[in-house]
Amino acid sequence: MADFKGVSKSYGSKYVFGNVNFVIERGDRIALVGVNGAGKSTLIKLLAGLEPLSSGEYTLGHNVELDYFAQDQYKELDTDARVYDDLREASPRSTETELRNLLGCFLFSEDDVFKRIGVLSGGERNRYALARMLLTPSNFLLLDEPTNHLDMRAKDVLLEALQEFTGTVVFVSHDRYFLEKVANRVFEIGEGEVRVYPGNYADYLWRKEGGHERTPTLDDVLIGVPPAEPIAMPAAAQSAAKRMNPMKLKQLQDQAQALEQRIASLEAEIQASEMALSDFVSAQEAMRLSNLLEANRSELEKAMAEWEGVTEQIEATA
Ligand SMILES: Nc1ncnc2c1ncn2[C@@H]1O[C@H](COP(=O)(O)OP(=O)(O)OP(=O)(O)O)[C@@H](O)[C@H]1O
Ligand SMILES: [Mg+2]
Repeated sequence: MADFKGVSKSYGSKYVFGNVNFVIERGDRIALVGVNGAGKSTLIKLLAGLEPLSSGEYTLGHNVELDYFAQDQYKELDTDARVYDDLREASPRSTETELRNLLGCFLFSEDDVFKRIGVLSGGERNRYALARMLLTPSNFLLLDEPTNHLDMRAKDVLLEALQEFTGTVVFVSHDRYFLEKVANRVFEIGEGEVRVYPGNYADYLWRKEGGHERTPTLDDVLIGVPPAEPIAMPAAAQSAAKRMNPMKLKQLQDQAQALEQRIASLEAEIQASEMALSDFVSAQEAMRLSNLLEANRSELEKAMAEWEGVTEQIEATA
């Protein structure tokens, strides 16, 4: 629904980032992360159409309507208006009960709703600005640090509202809990680049720590696989196994080791295909990848079964 091709952005001689390419899909919840001054707000503004691109192309899908929540959105509010009146004006068709419920959800008391916006604290104003936006949300929300000045309770309210929201969200946040609960993909901005990470925030952190460069070990492979039921061996077979000659044992151990390597590489290939599948290129490519994925998964199953068989034989000699 939103597509950047070779986008770059500078403010005069100040270069922010270049050669930015990504596709945002309907329903995406994308977190923008990066240090102060990296260009997160800039990217949000480009998406909102509030800043011109310096070069490249930005295509926005049909029927996409966006809401932009600025880093200092509360400054946009009419300070003379009373909270309740301002909200009613924003959504004339809502009933009084609906408006009061929403304000209640965003922790505004009966008294608060008749206050002038100008007397609210920064945090309260920010909270009100969010409530106002969520009253009639568009299908594409661009939120620049919406959790700023929010206390835990208000954050939870926003979190829940976003989790129920079925549209697309691009947001900037430094709040780890929020990032973990909301994002399905992460865009990291820094050093003049926007790097697209395909997974959620936990996956992003894992990759940053070099997790994907580490060859998976058998322990990684076996996580989540229930331990095999020990197979009771007849006494005769047990004593036979105990007498297994060392050559045969060595053979089994080599076999187990080879299988472990095979399992690890199949796991890595499966992971790579899964990752590639999350970046849609074409129907043909997606088909090829899912066939490969299927084949590798059944290979993996076979290899695991074989490995179990071999290790059982080894264990029986112990
Ligand atoms: N209108 C502007 N004119 C000139 N430079 C600008 C303008 N807006 C932003 N910049 C510069 O562009 C860079 C990126 O700014 P941006 O506000 O996008 O960063 P950010 O990642 O949102 O930072 P923060 O985490 O502090 O909000 C900064 O160096 C900033 O000084
Ligand atoms: Mg910013």
